[in-house]
Amino acid sequence: MNEDRIYERAEISRDFEFNSEVAEVFENMLNRSVPFYDKVIDMTSDILSRFLNSRDIVYDLGSSTGTTLIKVSEKLSKMDLRYVGVDGSEAMIKKSRSRVKMFSHTSGIDFVLSDINDFETKDAGAVILNYTLQFLRPVIRESFLKKVHGFLREKGVLVMSEKVISHDPVINRAFIDFYINFKKSMGYSDLEIAKKREALENVLIPFSVSENIELLKKVGFVHVEPFFQWFNFVSILAVKG
Ligand SMILES: C[S@@+](CC[C@H](N)C(=O)[O-])C[C@H]1O[C@@H](n2cnc3c(N)ncnc32)[C@H](O)[C@@H]1O
Repeated sequence: MNEDRIYERAEISRDFEFNSEVAEVFENMLNRSVPFYDKVIDMTSDILSRFLNSRDIVYDLGSSTGTTLIKVSEKLSKMDLRYVGVDGSEAMIKKSRSRVKMFSHTSGIDFVLSDINDFETKDAGAVILNYTLQFLRPVIRESFLKKVHGFLREKGVLVMSEKVISHDPVINRAFIDFYINFKKSMGYSDLEIAKKREALENVLIPFSVSENIELLKKVGFVHVEPFFQWFNFVSILAVKG
């Protein structure tokens, strides 16, 4: 796994992009930047194993280098499921296609290069939307989630994970500090952390937990339950009625 050293160089001052430089180090970046990343994938598998039927299709919107689908399909190899990853970054799709070739259990996984706003499907058993809604412009999130709700069959599930904020400034500051400490413990320097924050500032716009839950209910999900939270990261299960 290539190590993420992108922000070691102090001169970087452009907005964060999911380009080939990022795709090359992305697994390392996620493991060191998203607390309990692997655990959330494990829990996603547990949820899918409970809610899906044989021959269901699972869509991963913002599938990046394919890690989630590779791990979920391995854990659920006894279920007869199909998987489709969708991502708008050519570099990510290229990387995910080459990665699935390295595993024997991944024959049911396909990747589609598309903006997730333009993607269409129906009768999905599940949609996974991990750490991706936060990159869509806030004004389009409601209509996008409404579309996702329409992708699902009756009783289909959405698993969504997001970075979040608290509207209480004291709690928010504390959670940010805990997150900075997490990144330091993962070997990122103060400079790397500061540069990455700057690069993400206009690109990653987090909502609060309750704003995300409200949106999911508003677009029609009947049951909406957070199943995991680490300070400013949350994972939510939403079930279509
Ligand atoms: C933080 S990553 C997602 C991580 C991934 N879900 C995981 O858990 O491993 C966000 C991904 O969403 C993709 N993305 C962001 N906006 C997109 C859009 N509008 N259409 C398609 N893909 C998009 C990026 O290319 C990137 O690969």
